[in-house]
Amino acid sequence: MDKIVIDGGRRLSGRVAIAGAKNAALPILIATLVAPGEHRLNNVPQLVDVSSMLSLLGRVGCPSLVHGGAVRLDTSRVSFCEAPYDLVRKMRASVLALGPLLARCGEAHVSLPGGCAIGVRPIDQHLKGLERLGCRFELSGGYVHGHVDQLVGARIVLDFPTVTGTENILTAAVLAKGESVIENAAREPEIVDLVNFLRSLGAQIEGEGTSSIRVQGVQALAPKTPYSILPDRIEAGTYLVAGAITGGDVTVERVEPRDLEPAIEILRATGCVVDVGDTWVRVRRHGPVQPVDVTTRPHPGFPTDMQAQFMALLSMAKGRSVVTETIFENRFMHVPELNRLGADVSTDGNRAVVNGVDSMHGATVMATDLRASASLVLAGLAAEGRTEVLRLYHLDRGYERLVEKLQALGADVARVTDDLERLRSAPLAVTQNVG
Ligand code: EPZ
Repeated sequence: MDKIVIDGGRRLSGRVAIAGAKNAALPILIATLVAPGEHRLNNVPQLVDVSSMLSLLGRVGCPSLVHGGAVRLDTSRVSFCEAPYDLVRKMRASVLALGPLLARCGEAHVSLPGGCAIGVRPIDQHLKGLERLGCRFELSGGYVHGHVDQLVGARIVLDFPTVTGTENILTAAVLAKGESVIENAAREPEIVDLVNFLRSLGAQIEGEGTSSIRVQGVQALAPKTPYSILPDRIEAGTYLVAGAITGGDVTVERVEPRDLEPAIEILRATGCVVDVGDTWVRVRRHGPVQPVDVTTRPHPGFPTDMQAQFMALLSMAKGRSVVTETIFENRFMHVPELNRLGADVSTDGNRAVVNGVDSMHGATVMATDLRASASLVLAGLAAEGRTEVLRLYHLDRGYERLVEKLQALGADVARVTDDLERLRSAPLAVTQNVG
């Protein structure tokens, strides 16, 4: 098992180029199924989750070629309509196959994603919305089996602005007969990117980025031009916190600053200086971190995917901050690990009280989920001494070349495989081969 080893206490400075957004790439990749032909996608992040999604597409009969951030994907033929358990268990975003497979094939067999470290994460809203479009579902053998003869447009009111729920419904509605309206739709930038991609295929959609999205179904869709995935606001926010927590000076490039507004607002409230350009954001911190209360909300509120990272920063504040998590019921798994590094965080339900400490101290910590892992790396950058972060497979799902990017910013960080570690620590055995 790999681990990250950090010798903390260095101020990070420099510029880091941000990759394409994982949570835009995943729905867009699977949405290619609604448009038979050869798709060309650019700025696709090189992540384990993206590889998993391409494996899923390969399983249903759609081969792909990847060269750096460019992906060519041929969805001319779909020979299989299933997202199997062995893929879904690794990546719950496989549930996004429901809408496109139903729209393309009239059927879909998707392993139930099950819960994960951060919560139960049901898909009741996905199924309710797709049923409104004429789909029928039955659950058996740990799978959701969906069928539809003809998708028919409908008005759908979501109980919760679910991101992947909105995406599943959208990717079916584009080929439904007639008009659909999704009320209480998710407003995340990744939804807007998916709509822009679907529009590039010929879909007729309006209202993206608002809570009411209107879709005019069309007969057929086809790839016409290459599409470039929008920048990853969560990756960008993570590096901005890296600059802030180390008292450094970091600029994230190739970003959409508008998507970072909630994070920028909190960074400024902690006392950081944040400058904003057309495609870059710079953070500097000279004085102490000021405590700030943070509550996660659906976009355009403060994103839950940055809660753990900002909690690491607030752990160093001069005072008490309250962090409230309103999206997932169990997204404080990083708290006991942060406390092992010397933080002073206590939780009560969905509320965490963060009493800032003067310094944190290196330790060995365990990653539990993607963003919790990032939080521990950030705390390790600020902690005195050595921190080792285990279970890196979480990080590899969502962060492209994390160690190299941190090294380029001046961090003393390395990725170590256990074999090497074992060799390093094993006593040198000298054997003399007598001829
Ligand atoms: C997406 O997950 C993201 N994943 C998550 O990012 C992100 O944290 C989340 O949206 C919130 O922004 C992808 O886009 C691939 P939700 P999703 O449906 O769609 C409840 C990361 O770190 N809910 O908006 O699964 C659910 O239980 C990941 O990159 C229902 O009750 O999130 C949760 O409490 C983590 N019924 C809440 O809504 C449903 O049918 C938010 O879920 C659907 C959701």
